[in-house]
Amino acid sequence: AQVHRIAVIPGDGIGLEVVPAGMEVLDAAASVDGTFQMRYETFPWSCRYYHETGRMAPPDFLEQLRGYDAIFLGAVGDPSVPDHVSLWGLLLPIRRTFRQYVNLRPARLLRGVPTPLAGRGPADIDFWVVRENNEGEYSNMGGRLYPGTPDEIVIQNSVFTRRGVERVMRYAFELARRHPKRRLTSATKSNGINHTMPFWDEVFRALSSEYPDVATDQYHIDALAARFVTHPQRFGVVVASNLFGDILTDLGAAIAGSIGIAPSANLNPERVYPSMFEPIHGSAPDIAGQGIANPIGQIWSGAMMLEHLGHPGAARRIMAAVEHTLGDRGVKTPDLGGKATTRQVTQTIIDALLEGEH
Ligand code: NAD
Ligand code: IPM
Ligand code: MN
Repeated sequence: AQVHRIAVIPGDGIGLEVVPAGMEVLDAAASVDGTFQMRYETFPWSCRYYHETGRMAPPDFLEQLRGYDAIFLGAVGDPSVPDHVSLWGLLLPIRRTFRQYVNLRPARLLRGVPTPLAGRGPADIDFWVVRENNEGEYSNMGGRLYPGTPDEIVIQNSVFTRRGVERVMRYAFELARRHPKRRLTSATKSNGINHTMPFWDEVFRALSSEYPDVATDQYHIDALAARFVTHPQRFGVVVASNLFGDILTDLGAAIAGSIGIAPSANLNPERVYPSMFEPIHGSAPDIAGQGIANPIGQIWSGAMMLEHLGHPGAARRIMAAVEHTLGDRGVKTPDLGGKATTRQVTQTIIDALLEGEH
């Protein structure tokens, strides 16, 4: 069997609970499939590691990760470490150094999951958000003057490069071409943001002429957020800058039932570097250690990883087992209104996979 070498970073909080669940499901999928095998190497990099060593990860951590086929990550962050320190010490450098400039995040209502949107069902909520993942509003550039005085000034720059905007939009257009709706929506804010967003719109317009088969529209981010709630059925693919995409995908997860379900793929489409698969949620310190975290965001991220590694059949079987668990068996964690534990949901998914009920 083909062996896939996977770097595993459980991280903090519920990452330590949902990552093992994801690995078990991946192993079950591999054994059912029979053509591949996962070989994991687990790295303890986290806020615990930070307290022990003064760093989130060793100085050469990016070189250590470089040769893996993919990275499977849980969540990073703990109340005992400032979030910008933990995230810029581990997660964000991985996304950037490995040129994972596409953050692909589905908003899809799975069978058996209640949505907070009245009268909506799985046919209404099924779209992709393509989030720019390397630049934009998340930048290391800026500064602070006159700290602590009434004259204090804090500046954070946004960086939008032609190369960076074009490549993520091109990915989104190609994806929209394969989506049944053949529609690409751009998230903008060119009414209030004076330089970057008009540039974003300009690139979007220029590319749209290369894709006459894809219908396009654009909304300011505020109105778009409202439309996710009022007209989710209109969307096929949505392309957004780093921060707008971040916010939209928690909203997308919420209308698709829970932030605990939504997955993401941080992709280096050229495959020069490893891609990284992680749920969109964080370390959830409020429920960590209780064994009740929803593992489906992590498990679905694992399915996206298998798809990336060339096993779409195995990925589909995982998702069928997830929908069987939620829809037919009604086994759900508390975030979905159920009473099941992380363990029970995981085991039900694995049993469904091994029994091949679908
Ligand atoms: P969060 O996603 O951790 O939690 C938000 C809410 O959603 C909480 O009430 C939490 O209990 C709930 N929730 C999240 N995942 C869940 C799951 N799988 N099952 C059930 N409920 C779930 O967001 P936050 O509170 O803003 O952040 C907490 C920490 O995580 C911070 O340190 C933050 O920086 C970090 N964070 C990390 C990542 C990442 O590593 N990719 C992503 C987001 C936040
Ligand atoms: C996410 C997270 C991260 C982001 C944070 C933790 C830096 O919210 O993956 O969505 O904003 O990208
Ligand atoms: Mn986020």
